[in-house]
Amino acid sequence: MSKTTTWRGFSERVLQIQPSMTMEVADRAKTLKSQGVEIIDLSVGEPDFDTPDHIKQAAVKAMESGYTKYTKNVGMDELREAVCAKFRRDNEMEYTPEEIIISSGGKHVLFNVMMALLNPGEEIIIFAPYWVTFTEMARLAGGEPVIITTKESMSYEPDIGRVRRAINPRTKAILINSPGNPTGAVYSEDTIGALVDLAREHGVFLISDECYDRVTYNGRHVSPASLEGSPGLVITVQSVSKPYAMTGWRIGYGGANSEIIEQMAKIQSQSTSNANSIAQYAAVEALTGAQSFIGEMVGEYRRRRDHTLGVLNRIPGVTCSTPQGAFYVFPNIAQYYGHSYDGKTLSSSLDMSYYLLDETHVAVVPGGGFGADDHIRISYATSMQELQRGMERIQLALEALR
Ligand SMILES: Cc1ncc(COP(=O)(O)O)c(C=O)c1O
Repeated sequence: MSKTTTWRGFSERVLQIQPSMTMEVADRAKTLKSQGVEIIDLSVGEPDFDTPDHIKQAAVKAMESGYTKYTKNVGMDELREAVCAKFRRDNEMEYTPEEIIISSGGKHVLFNVMMALLNPGEEIIIFAPYWVTFTEMARLAGGEPVIITTKESMSYEPDIGRVRRAINPRTKAILINSPGNPTGAVYSEDTIGALVDLAREHGVFLISDECYDRVTYNGRHVSPASLEGSPGLVITVQSVSKPYAMTGWRIGYGGANSEIIEQMAKIQSQSTSNANSIAQYAAVEALTGAQSFIGEMVGEYRRRRDHTLGVLNRIPGVTCSTPQGAFYVFPNIAQYYGHSYDGKTLSSSLDMSYYLLDETHVAVVPGGGFGADDHIRISYATSMQELQRGMERIQLALEALR
């Protein structure tokens, strides 16, 4: 019997969200790879470094010691304390363990936050270019994303006047992501302060995705909660994925007023329960052990960032701001729209990404999925050698269109 004759359809919730646009190009890259084509992958959103050995050893020790059972739903006490110490050390934020939740990645923390805060029809302000997941996750939780665009000429910082005008009685939260994916923008302390003030003035939550907090090139990232004083409206989201090259371990953590944490914990307890126990032990070591790895990794990223920018600056018509954090560059390549390739006019970031993949075998991510169709995202979380080859090919492919 055909399934469609018995199905009564999917939920409106799932039907209204989009699969990730980043996946389309990634799928084509995978197909080409399976056909034996050698692909240079500049689309990845994770460090190419291995997890430091002392962190892996902490996991081995945890397993050998039998720490393989459920932990507290909100996370182990030891890890919640380690997060408080980390917040104090790196971000000048004061949280107590009751104000911390450990979840299965930063993404999971964000999901718990959105599920705990958003009612159907309530609005959440998101700044474009945004990480692809923000809008779809907000919709999944029943909320309505309200997009405010930011400009490259303003270093992708939000215009506070526009934010103020967008706030209305349906606004529940403002979501920020600094250092940001895909732009690498790091908001100034003034901007962060103005957003904290706005949140207070209107009683809206300020969700701060700081998953790249340790990956900055000039100066320190400022956490809004450090300006707020005691936890009130700011919800801090961080993760061990990017700073410690631990994407596969799936540990993220949130800091917020304990009443918010309690509601998030209810959602977690009825869905996934605690994050992986072994990974939690490894995360304690990551946050409290030697931190020198991060400096070395960021130093290498800086070298690669500068190389990537150097090549982009030589390509006529391409503009690109200098990212101050994360490991992506986000060049504007719209000058090349309208050119033809293989009888087809290239008119979007998706067309351009397919062109680069098919013609040069370099995978990048179309900016359209981030709400910025004039751009493509290039990740430099790959070896210098691969990056050099990839960037050379991108340069040649764009110049060939002129
Ligand atoms: C902006 C941003 N936030 C959150 C995450 C989530 O990372 P994880 O769930 O691995 O902690 C990512 C991962 O790419 C990201 O780019």
